[in-house]
Amino acid sequence: MKLFRVLFLLVLLAAVAPLAMLVLVLRANGVDALRSSLSAGASAVLVALLISLVMARRVTRPLDELVTGALDIARGRFGRQVAHAGRTELSDLAYTFNFMSTQLDQYNKENARLYAALERGYLETIRALASAIDAKDPYTRGHSDRVAKLAVEIGRELGLDAATLRVLEFGGILHDVGKIGVPERVLGKPARLTAEEFDLVRSHAAIGAEIIDGVEFLKSAEPAIRHHHERWDGGGYPDGLRGDSIPLIARIVNAADTWDACTSERPYHRAATHREGLTILAQSRGLQLDPNVHDAILRVLVRLGKSDDGAVA
Ligand SMILES: [Fe+2]
Repeated sequence: MKLFRVLFLLVLLAAVAPLAMLVLVLRANGVDALRSSLSAGASAVLVALLISLVMARRVTRPLDELVTGALDIARGRFGRQVAHAGRTELSDLAYTFNFMSTQLDQYNKENARLYAALERGYLETIRALASAIDAKDPYTRGHSDRVAKLAVEIGRELGLDAATLRVLEFGGILHDVGKIGVPERVLGKPARLTAEEFDLVRSHAAIGAEIIDGVEFLKSAEPAIRHHHERWDGGGYPDGLRGDSIPLIARIVNAADTWDACTSERPYHRAATHREGLTILAQSRGLQLDPNVHDAILRVLVRLGKSDDGAVA
């Protein structure tokens, strides 16, 4: 608006200055001549006013549009175009603006494509790592992937946002990564474990957290890995956390892990049926499992058709 006012005043001045000079010259020629000259001058000023308004708008309107366009780009609307007509400096500016906006849009799309490829690469890498862990124990083949999928479903049921669901997926896939540090003879032992062997198995939660500690993009999944064996009643490991002090993603992975472990064939137990699995979950509600998470997994399992007595998938 400042520019508008300046332009307006300039045009006004250009109209008034000659008029003033005219008045001075005509004063010497009598009142009648002065009156008619003033009348003609007033008409000229009015016309000049109208012209100045139109001219000022012609300059400020494209500038307003450029300002709005720049703000849109700042808000992430890359590719935003502004109108440009004629061959004035302002239309050159608009043309340059549009070129810059198009380039920014292309850079942005390329960045998004690279980010998606990078994330796919990360996911494939950690899936390969999880498969290597599952392969240590033939009884747990596919376990990590199933836990990740179920954990994401529970998270969705609880209304978690997309970013947290991603973290849950990573946490689910890698929750047992620490088993890489536990001897295979212990993991696959078909008989009862000794106290020392139990300690070795339990160490996998803390080992897993240490393994991913230096990996920046997995940092947010670390609580799920370290705390997926904590219990709602405080009797779990490695830190004996209780209730809400256990990270939610860890409570969710715990529930998904419990379901998959009890409904899968293991060296120390046969696979439970769906109904038996649901009973195990119900008995753990408020003891091992967060009651809310238990209720959410129940709804998910019903939705997935895993609440009857059919064969275990
Ligand atoms: Fe585990």
